[in-house]
Amino acid sequence: MTSKIRIGLLGLGTVGTGVVKIVLSPEGRHPLVSEVSLKKIAVKDLKRSRDKEIPSHLLTDDPMNVVEDPDIDLVVEVIGGIEPARTLILKAISLGKSVVTANKAVIARYGDEIANAAKANNVYVLIEGAVGGGIPIVEPLKQSLGGNKLKKISGIINGTTNYILSRMSLEGANFDDVLEEAQKLGFAESDPTADVDGLDAADKLSILSGLAFGGTIERSLVPTKGIRNLQSSDIEYANELGYDIKLLAIAESLSDKSNKETQLALRVEPTLIEKNHPLAKVSGVNNAILVEGSPIGEVMFYGPGAGAGPTASAVVADILNIASERITREGKNCLNPLLSASQWSKCVLVKPSEIIQKNYLRLITNDSPGVIGKIGKIFGENNVSIKSIVQFDSSESVAEIVVITHKGIQGQMMRSIEEIKNLSVVIKIASHLGCL
Ligand code: HSE
Repeated sequence: MTSKIRIGLLGLGTVGTGVVKIVLSPEGRHPLVSEVSLKKIAVKDLKRSRDKEIPSHLLTDDPMNVVEDPDIDLVVEVIGGIEPARTLILKAISLGKSVVTANKAVIARYGDEIANAAKANNVYVLIEGAVGGGIPIVEPLKQSLGGNKLKKISGIINGTTNYILSRMSLEGANFDDVLEEAQKLGFAESDPTADVDGLDAADKLSILSGLAFGGTIERSLVPTKGIRNLQSSDIEYANELGYDIKLLAIAESLSDKSNKETQLALRVEPTLIEKNHPLAKVSGVNNAILVEGSPIGEVMFYGPGAGAGPTASAVVADILNIASERITREGKNCLNPLLSASQWSKCVLVKPSEIIQKNYLRLITNDSPGVIGKIGKIFGENNVSIKSIVQFDSSESVAEIVVITHKGIQGQMMRSIEEIKNLSVVIKIASHLGCL
């Protein structure tokens, strides 16, 4: 029998609060979540009013006390910034504790020092939450894509600038106006420097490059240009020429067999992308990372790049990795619970008639008075709500009618179709498809 893994959480901002909420409600999540317990939470200000779900008896304003507590197995750092985060992480490592962090600034600058310390102390430091918010990208680079020679990473890894550029492109608005509104709406920080000047993206690019190409990146040498000086006329001209402009972070391996060292070309800059490129379709605060390698070709990771829920999801994934490692190490003949599906309970599939969805239906009918009325009546009697019903060009006396329904119970849809099929005015049901 293994004991629960006891967490000391450093920081209770947006992401920290998200982590607490996941850990305290394990129902419906991976069974390993219930193997995790919160022991202490370090906050800046004990007096601040907080969500009632937060266990206030766990709060302390002394983060070192959390790190040094011998009853804490794993330190989760979501304070952000360089100090005291770096010192706390290194202290936890020196005490033989694994660390989970979402801190891109500290990992981009001190990743090497931290990784060496972790190796020397035989502990893990996991960083899924540091890049791409909720998008799983760190673990794929470290594990799932391990059979590939990676060639290039190009991504939109800053949501704030992507939101600003999306609005500038859609509305023809200028940078200052969109930034001001984004700040009012809470999409941009009151000090937007790290985001709009590309510094946040450069931190994340350094981390991704280190993982993808297996080397240390000197963060200060990453060529970085932000979006502050981008004019709406540049976006307009680019649009007219068939391009969108995105703040791209790009890392490309230039190494060939003759190079002993891995040579990388890195840059963060506003970049024109053809409108049909998958990265051009990423809008608003979303992030996307395109990874190119051999033999996989191209694979794109897309999703919410920030926010309480998404980043907490990534942090908890790392917590589960540490928990599963410990359980496997401590247990006798125990399979890694993240690799084996043995702990999952049986799932019961509902009958097709119980599925709830929208539908598309194309009918070939007589072109005569009352046909649409009869079809509509059958849907109504079966409690299926029509979103749209359109008659397209009819030839001679034959009409083609297309129906899109609202979401409904599939059994009612199937009953409607059977009744519609039997109408004398209906020649055939030409097509029935699902609709999202
Ligand atoms: N400020 C970042 C962004 C989110 O706008 O994407 C945290 O990494």
